This record gives sequence, structure tokens and C-alpha cells, in this order.
Amino acid sequence: MPNVINEPIRNTSLFSEAPTFSEADCKEAIRFVLSRIDGNLDTFAHKFPSPASSGNVYMPWDNVEWTPGFWTGMLWLAYEATGDMKYRRAAEGQLESYRARAEERKHTATHDLGFLYTLSCVSAYKLTGSEFAKETALLAADLLMERYFDKAGIIQAWGNLDNPSQRGRMIIDCCMNLPLLYWASEMTGNPKYETAARNHADRAARYLIREDASSYHTFYMDVETGEPKYGKTSQGYSDDSCWSRGQAWAIYGFPLSYIYTRDGSMIDIAQKTANYFLNRLPDDLVCYWDLTFTEGGEERDSSAAAIAVCGMLELAKHLPLVDERRRVYENASLHILKSLAESYTSKDVPHSNGVLLHAVYGKPLGNGIDECCIWGDYYYFEALMRVARNWKLYW
Ligand code: GLY
Repeated sequence: MPNVINEPIRNTSLFSEAPTFSEADCKEAIRFVLSRIDGNLDTFAHKFPSPASSGNVYMPWDNVEWTPGFWTGMLWLAYEATGDMKYRRAAEGQLESYRARAEERKHTATHDLGFLYTLSCVSAYKLTGSEFAKETALLAADLLMERYFDKAGIIQAWGNLDNPSQRGRMIIDCCMNLPLLYWASEMTGNPKYETAARNHADRAARYLIREDASSYHTFYMDVETGEPKYGKTSQGYSDDSCWSRGQAWAIYGFPLSYIYTRDGSMIDIAQKTANYFLNRLPDDLVCYWDLTFTEGGEERDSSAAAIAVCGMLELAKHLPLVDERRRVYENASLHILKSLAESYTSKDVPHSNGVLLHAVYGKPLGNGIDECCIWGDYYYFEALMRVARNWKLYW
């Protein structure tokens, strides 16, 4: 593994104390999320929220894109939070559409099968024991394996494998797609899924993370020789900047690989990426859409903040109990979560059907800027569940 700098956290005085974010605050925040889900249950019974809102309102979309699983995942979280069968029935009612998508290979030329099928089907299997959900998730794992290039040890993110502009391109987001593969090895006893995931996590740590612990959004590998080529952004400010959500995917994704592999280098790299992230936050601790910006009029990305909170809460769990960093990551997570709960939800925007305002999907693409993004809502809910109880991961 190349040398990556461990930048000391600058705001240690703030993060040495937990904020006042009481159990009652957390419950209140969950109640608000549930109220939004309730308002959306009919609209998104057989449809899914658009990836980003328009004017803070999600539109009904088909099971396409990389994002439907976040809505189904929110239904599973709601079922866990309340025990109310209406959420379970709603989530189960969507499983058939994931099965059809995998069987008919509709919009499956993507690495995002992990996001899609972990939150909809692996969750269903873990919570209810559904064999249908398990088989569906295993179908998705096989589709994901088709995107693995053995020589380079990576999963291609986007597009057909022979598309010259996408061939051999891995992206930092994929760290979140690997749990589907680790889980598939556990379910089937076939190590091939885990080997691919381990190799990809290793290449991601090696090539997507720069020496200063920032991340490239995407990186090209030569799939014929296995040699690294170059980094390039897609959703960040520039090729050499650090896209905030990409950094958040790293903070959360590497600890997920640690859970399955027990490879300590995954915790080491996650911790360094977390420090880099924490050192570039504005006063209210909700990051701008690219970590190049630490003040001024650029948009925030509340979704990146929510993902980073989940990631740091997970990271903290794998540090020794006596390790001071454990408290720092927990406290930092709670400070960010409190800021989101107090100032970034749509509670004062009654026409909205989203939860978290002020996310950015893709600024350079002109897509979902200063809107709700469905993954932001999901990770905010997951973060609250992590704080409210000993939540068992779907990942
Ligand atoms: N994984 C796509 C995104 O974060 O926008």
C-alpha cells in the first residue's frame, strides 16, 4: 500500500466533546423521516423517487438508475424503527421489480448493482429470511461479477465493457458496492465474489486515494496489462480536487471491506480519508459539494455529510475501545448529524416530499443542484438509526 499522509484533525477541541443531541432529539428526527415516508407511501408503491428532486419534490420513476434501492432501504429502516407491517409490505411489494430488472438485464450495465440490491434484497433477506430476496440479490452479484477485470483487479463502474471511454474505469463510489460480493461468497461458499471485492478494495485504496488522503472520483486502469493509468473526475470540481461525496464513499466504503476481510489497512485508509474530510468543513460542519470549497457561495452537499456520518460511526466501531480517535469520530458524527437535523431538513418546507434539503447530485453535469437526493435521505435515516439503537447493517 502506498504511503498516505495521516493529517491530524485540526478541530480537536470541538470534536473532543459530544454535542447535545439527546435521545429525544434523535427520536424526533426519526419521527419526521417517518412522516415523510408516510406521505410518500402511495406515490412510491410501484414507482420510485427520482434520484434528485425538482423544487424539493421527487417525481415517480421506474426501477432504473442507481437509486431505487435507497427508497426500498428507507422502507426497511422504517419497518425496523416501528415494527409496523405497512412498511414491510411496501418494501416486499417492490422486490418483484428488482427481480425483473436483474432477470431481464434492464439497466444492469453498472456497478451500482451493489447499492440497488443490498438495500432492497439483502436487507429483505437479513430481516425476513426471504429466499426470493436472497436469490434475487445473488443474481445481481453474478451480474456485478461480469464487470470484474481479473488482470487489473477492478470492477468497471459505468457503461458496456467494450465502451472505450469507460473501459477499465473504476470509481470511489464502488467501495459501497462490494458488500454485495462479500455477502454472495458467504451465502454460496464460492470465494470468487470475495476475491474480486478484495482486489477491487485494494486497487481503490492504492490508486483512488492520493498521497494526501484525498480521493479521485474515478481512475482508469489498463485492463489488458493491469497497470494504473490516470485519475479523472466526473462529478467533482476538477480532476485534482476532492469531490465531497466521493470522499464520503471512501470513509464509509473501506470500513465495510474491513468487516468482511479484517484487513487493517482498510481501517487505516478510512481513518486518513476521514481526517482529510473533517479538516475541510465549514462552520456548520456540512460540507460543500467539493472539498476545494470551505467557505463562500457554492452549494453544500448534505448527502455527503450524511454518508460521512454513517462511515465515521462505522469506522469508530472498529477502533480499540481505549483509542481516543474512537470518541473523536463518534463526536464529529454527532455534531454533523445535529447540524443536519437542525438546519437541513425540509420540516419548514411543507410542499417537499424529501427529507434532507441542500444536496448536490452532479454540479458539473447541471444535475440536482441544491435539491433533495434520495440517497441523502437514506443515509440520514441510517445515521439516526445507528444513533438510536445497535443497528445491524444491511451492507
Ligand atoms: N454514486 C453516484 C453518486 O454518488 O452520485
